[in-house]
Amino acid sequence: MSHADDTAGTRRDFLYYATAGAGAVATGAAVWPLVNQMNPSADVQALASIFVDVSGVEVGTQLTVKYLGKPVFIRRRSPEEIEAARAVALSELPDAMSENPNKPDSDASDENRTLDEAGEWLVMVGVCTHLGCVPIGDGSGDFGGWFCPCHGSHYDSAGRIRRGPAPRNLDIPIASFVDESTIKLG
Ligand code: FES
Repeated sequence: MSHADDTAGTRRDFLYYATAGAGAVATGAAVWPLVNQMNPSADVQALASIFVDVSGVEVGTQLTVKYLGKPVFIRRRSPEEIEAARAVALSELPDAMSENPNKPDSDASDENRTLDEAGEWLVMVGVCTHLGCVPIGDGSGDFGGWFCPCHGSHYDSAGRIRRGPAPRNLDIPIASFVDESTIKLG
């Protein structure tokens, strides 16, 4: 190979990598500004609580509300979803220890992730813990919960990561029932 060919090859390689690099940045940029613009300032966060009427949420469906600029999934799980989630051993979970802030020192067992003891109500931040896409719900993915199409993360019916690049279970926000049909976020 002549020196000229060698140089051309190097230049082609450079152009290839530069293009690939730009593509990766552009993909990231499509996700992060969306997430970032949804983050309000600290003073707004300190004040924010919202009350959500969940009386119209049927069993086996979910309501998505916007809270602190992010989607929050409020799912009323079916008996099948509850049973499937409760049958999973902690040893099967990539993230067995992520905590529910409403239950300090809790692990990621299904009983610890729900808002009520019966396990019907599951409230989670609807943002994939990999790079911030919004997962698809209603039994999506290979584990009957949510699926993130951006890079293929599968969450189960308790919102726990089971397969894919996401490092953590879907986060749980501060939440509580204030009466039987109203959930307070924050
Ligand atoms: S953002 Fe990458 S898998 Fe969800």
